[in-house]
Amino acid sequence: MKKIVLTGDRPTGRLHVGHYVGSLKRRVELQNEGNFDEMYVMIADAQALTDNAENPEKVRQNIVEVSLDYLSCGIDPEKVTVFIQSQVPELCELSFYYMNLVTVSRLQRNPTVKSEIQMRNFETSIPVGFFTYPISQAADITAFKANIIPVGEDQLPMIEQTREIVRKFNSVYGDTLVEPEAVIPKNKACMRLPGTDGKAKMSKSLGNCIYLSDSPEEVRTKVMSMFTDPDHIKLTDPGKLEGNAVFTYLDAFATDDHFREFLPDYANLDELKAHYTRGGLGDMKVKKFLNAVLQAELDPIRTRRKQFEKNIPEVYEILKKGSVKAEKAAAETLAEVKSAMRINYFDDAELIRSQSEKYNG
Ligand code: TRP
Repeated sequence: MKKIVLTGDRPTGRLHVGHYVGSLKRRVELQNEGNFDEMYVMIADAQALTDNAENPEKVRQNIVEVSLDYLSCGIDPEKVTVFIQSQVPELCELSFYYMNLVTVSRLQRNPTVKSEIQMRNFETSIPVGFFTYPISQAADITAFKANIIPVGEDQLPMIEQTREIVRKFNSVYGDTLVEPEAVIPKNKACMRLPGTDGKAKMSKSLGNCIYLSDSPEEVRTKVMSMFTDPDHIKLTDPGKLEGNAVFTYLDAFATDDHFREFLPDYANLDELKAHYTRGGLGDMKVKKFLNAVLQAELDPIRTRRKQFEKNIPEVYEILKKGSVKAEKAAAETLAEVKSAMRINYFDDAELIRSQSEKYNG
């Protein structure tokens, strides 16, 4: 079977280091391993509009931000099709037919939708488009027959919902669609990088994100004010690792090479953690190390971003080419879907003949 990779992000803000360790980094690795037939990265503007209907300008502005983040992380448009969701209208058509295969109660049980409804305080005023976005996400995935979906853990219910739609479609209309698999990061710290304030999630409104496009000074300031262990007051106090954002970030980012380069007194993170929990290691030293690690990781990303920022029309050209290519692939699947559903009337010579026979003998 073909290996087709697809992922996407909503363009509602610049991407941050949580996106990076949670999915972007893995995408670039997958891209460079080259062990796939096609790889797509989608800017989910239509999905972003499901809860930003009154603010299309925000979505519009962030398309280029997210694209710059992709390109600066090393997504190579020669190897990967980067495209904009709204420019592939076939996705809407697929969603329309999939809607008949999903119940309202099933959508209400989707844990991601549930928690997002709470987060956004929608209560009873949930936009229908937002409520049904898992169905549109199933269209995003199945339109490309994607079977490898590298995403963060929060997206698992979406992939499960897609798999159900695929099974339902195939059982009703015959084998047509491909069941996708989610690929989540192996490193647990990467799955849910907390905000710099130690809160569970990085979110723009909480102001607790480190963005890929932050300047070295911004990153430094954010790292130096990061949440650690509030009971670790004196240097000699033993420190706690649970809930300590600095150590969670180190879990996600630090390698033994980083220790050799920036903190050779310790061989690895285990030794640093042991010293911290024993007492006698100050937060400042750990934060300085984290800053060095983050700067090393973000530096090449910033450099590449500067290059692409100089040529924004080229970025749009990449998106346009990608969207044309994506539409072609989606149109093929849509044709198969319509033929499986037998709503491809004009291509169906047998239908025309039998109807004609019915009336004319
Ligand atoms: N829901 C995803 C997010 O919020 C974005 C997305 C849209 C997506 N369509 C997708 C991810 C298809 C993977 C596959 O990040």
